Amino acid sequence: MKTLIQLCLIAVVLYGCSAGLNPKDTAAVEAAFSKYEESDGKAIFKEKCARCHGYRLPETRTAEKWPRIIDRMAPKAKLNEDQKAAVLAFVTKHAKAS
Ligand code: HEC
Repeated sequence: MKTLIQLCLIAVVLYGCSAGLNPKDTAAVEAAFSKYEESDGKAIFKEKCARCHGYRLPETRTAEKWPRIIDRMAPKAKLNEDQKAAVLAFVTKHAKAS
C-alpha cells in the first residue's frame, strides 16, 4: 500500500514536469507568456508548440538543450526555416540559466 502511494506520487510529479503547461488553461497561459516581450518566435511558439503536448516553456530547458529539441520538434510543428529560427531564438533567449 505504501509503495503504491509512493508510486502514484512519483507518477504525478513526473507527469507534471513532463506534460507542460495545459494550453486550455487560458489564464495560466496568458500569465506565463506575459513575461516575454512580443516577438515572432513567441507568437509561433504559442501557436504551434502545444498541439501535441502542453507548452514546454523556454525556462524549462537550458540554451544548450534547446537546439536539438527544436531540430526534432520543428518538423512535427511543420515550421519552415524562418519560423524554426525564430522559435529557437525565442526559447534560447529565455532558457534556463544552467
Ligand atoms: C506533432 C506533435 C508535436 C508538435 C507539434 C510539437 N511537439 Fe514537442 N514533442 C512531441 C512528442 C511526441 C514528444 C516526445 C518525444 C520526443 O521527445 O521526441 C515531444 C517532446 C517535446 C519536448 C521534450 C523533449 C526533451 O528532450 O526534453 C519539448 C521540450 C518539446 N517537445 C517542445 C516542443 C516545441 C518547442 C514545439 C514547437 C516548435 C513542439 N514541441 C511541437 C510532439 C510534438
